[in-house]
Amino acid sequence: MMDLMKQIVCETIDLWAKQGTIDIVLETSDLMMTIILACVFGRQNENPLINYKDKGEIRQMKLGQALSTNLGRAVEREFQAYLILFPELFPYSLSNFDQEVQYNAEQVIEYIRKLIQIKRISFAQTGHYEGDDLLSVLLQDEVFQDSDQMIIDECITFFIAGSQTTAVTISNFLCYIAQSQEYEKKIRWEFGKLLYNYGMDIQKLTKELDLNKIEEFEYLKFCFYETLRIEPPVIISSSVKLTEDQEISGVIIKHDDMLIVNLHQIHHNKDQWIDDDKFIPERFDPQSKYYVTPAGTQRNQFSFVPFLGGKRVCLGKTFAENAFKTIVPLLMNNYKFLFCDDKQKSQKPFNNALMFKRPQVYMKLERIN
Ligand code: HEM
Repeated sequence: MMDLMKQIVCETIDLWAKQGTIDIVLETSDLMMTIILACVFGRQNENPLINYKDKGEIRQMKLGQALSTNLGRAVEREFQAYLILFPELFPYSLSNFDQEVQYNAEQVIEYIRKLIQIKRISFAQTGHYEGDDLLSVLLQDEVFQDSDQMIIDECITFFIAGSQTTAVTISNFLCYIAQSQEYEKKIRWEFGKLLYNYGMDIQKLTKELDLNKIEEFEYLKFCFYETLRIEPPVIISSSVKLTEDQEISGVIIKHDDMLIVNLHQIHHNKDQWIDDDKFIPERFDPQSKYYVTPAGTQRNQFSFVPFLGGKRVCLGKTFAENAFKTIVPLLMNNYKFLFCDDKQKSQKPFNNALMFKRPQVYMKLERIN
């Protein structure tokens, strides 16, 4: 999967460079959708066109875009007044809007079902599944192989949970370091120290960037964490319930109360974080004065929870970290990312994976070697 990812990043950075100026939010979203779809379905099926219905009109849309746009509409559907008043109507598609959401979901499901069929036919002919994509792996797994529905659910979950979260982290990171020469210098210094091919031919650099190598990035890891702290891509958790009534800090919470964990607020707790609104990667460096709380004590272990925790912890946290540490050096190898708009540079637009409407942030790529 890592090889696939590196190959796609190299192709993408070439395209970005040709364009010169790009909307970094949109482009990193497209990049991660392409990567995740290639990991899930294989490179040859990475972003096909499928039917998508909007306001009564059917048009062709890329699978990744169709999936994420329809997901946004599915979430919007939950907030319709009639479903809030009568949640028992949830399984029924009553309005035109509901029917379109349903139609679009079926197009995606149908596409995956056909891919499963094609892969099974090829297996029957050759005796093996080609590729190490998630779909081929699941088709050979004894827990999944007899349930197409489980396989389809798994593929869609991987896409939904993995693409926008990682994309937002990369675009936010590029924005934060474009605001500060100091942090960018430190990152480039670390790349120069650890990567023999850094700043040279990108194909050679891709070979050097393996799992052992990216494990050595220390400052880049601090930047990854700080990006997740200052603007967690998942700002709030989905709803959870306690197993029994509890009193927490004087507040009684009943076992059937619905709770939502506000990750953004936790990451901006002024008792835990010095200058909580500032991007300071050194907070994660045990040698730094920013490593402790404003009172000088050790931070609470739950003050940083971008992946939530416990039984509901993110299943893709290692994949996300490895993807970030692989993609960023490739993007920065020959280019510097600069804001086009000075206002956005001083006040970066807020961006997270749960936003209905994402900001446009234009950046210019400047060749550095
Ligand atoms: C920086 C990137 C990511 C962040 C910040 C992130 C964050 C989170 C958070 C906060 C949750 C808990 C949500 C809740 O229960 O309310 C979660 C769950 C999950 N994440 Fe991620 N995620 C990231 C990347 C990924 C990737 C790349 C994948 C898969 C490849 C993934 C797969 C999942 C899955 C399957 C769950 C559901 C776990 C469960 O409830 O059993 N995530 N993630």
